[in-house]
Amino acid sequence: MKKSASWRSPSNIALVKYWGKYPKQIPANPSISFTLNDCYTETEVILDDKKTDATFSFEVILDGESKPDFAPKIEKFFNQIVDEAPFLKEFHFTIKTHNSFPHSSGIASSASGMSALALCLLSLKEEITGKKEDDFHRKASEWARLGSGSASRSVYGGLVEWGRFAGMPESNDEFAVPFTGKVHDVFKTFCDYVLLVEMGAKSVSSTAGHGLMNNHPFAERRFLQAHENLEKLTEILASGDLAAFGNLVESEALTLHAMMMTSDPSFILMKPNTVHVIERIRQYRKETGTPVYFTLDAGANVHVLFPAAAEQKVKSFVDSELKQYLKDGRYICDRVGQGSERY
Ligand code: PMV
Repeated sequence: MKKSASWRSPSNIALVKYWGKYPKQIPANPSISFTLNDCYTETEVILDDKKTDATFSFEVILDGESKPDFAPKIEKFFNQIVDEAPFLKEFHFTIKTHNSFPHSSGIASSASGMSALALCLLSLKEEITGKKEDDFHRKASEWARLGSGSASRSVYGGLVEWGRFAGMPESNDEFAVPFTGKVHDVFKTFCDYVLLVEMGAKSVSSTAGHGLMNNHPFAERRFLQAHENLEKLTEILASGDLAAFGNLVESEALTLHAMMMTSDPSFILMKPNTVHVIERIRQYRKETGTPVYFTLDAGANVHVLFPAAAEQKVKSFVDSELKQYLKDGRYICDRVGQGSERY
């Protein structure tokens, strides 16, 4: 018996950041992100007769090359969903995967990669059992969460919320949901240029980083702040107030890094060029009035956020003033996308 399923799933960039978790990948605070368009993972899972006596039999192939070093993460993920997917023990799985963004670019592939894998496995489960899920995307988001927290948000397009939040009754710790608040048109076509300040693996894994929020002196206040910021952002997204948006999103990014800098052990993921880029963005905004803002994920790269109407101006600013700080002058032009799709 040979069956296969293929899904394309994008990366996402958080505006209010998830940082800190409880067992079973339950987030310590709610988060919200823009799903991206051009940074995505394409994964095909081919199911075939089992090849070994091991609990799980699988092989990961990235761009045509076998990747045995991915095995522990996949094995852990299989273990987390096997109760709901007993077929994982019964077959051999060939997982062929490809990222649209450069390997080791510092762009986390876990959100796009884990969501693409979860979607493929859920499609296969439906085929094998002949039973349709009541809510396919919700279950895929739940499975993706168990692989990587932020992956739960990549299943849907546009603005996506994950984690229980009083301002959104549909919100849940176990799966992400499309943001249900009012969204001003300006945010529907927002751009995100990903500036590659540094290529290569991060010096601290996000798993270790989340762990350092346990017993962190500022943790409780930070978790509360995420709720407050989500409440403020809900109003900002409705009103289209770009200055307030930038103020909040930049503060979230710096708070994420402040948490890392004040944990024990402490660590700094920003590089000197990260700070140069941030300063240039703020200076350019002040001088020209252009609504251009930054955010960061758990790394040195800078995400430049701005409305589509400002794209020409921002692109020439990036080319003339920011490129000098980037690894080989590289950056990726991305924007808000529609979410995952089967192909
Ligand atoms: O999904 P993880 O465990 O890699 O955590 C990602 C955390 C941040 O990217 C820093 C923030 C977020 O909400 O995506």
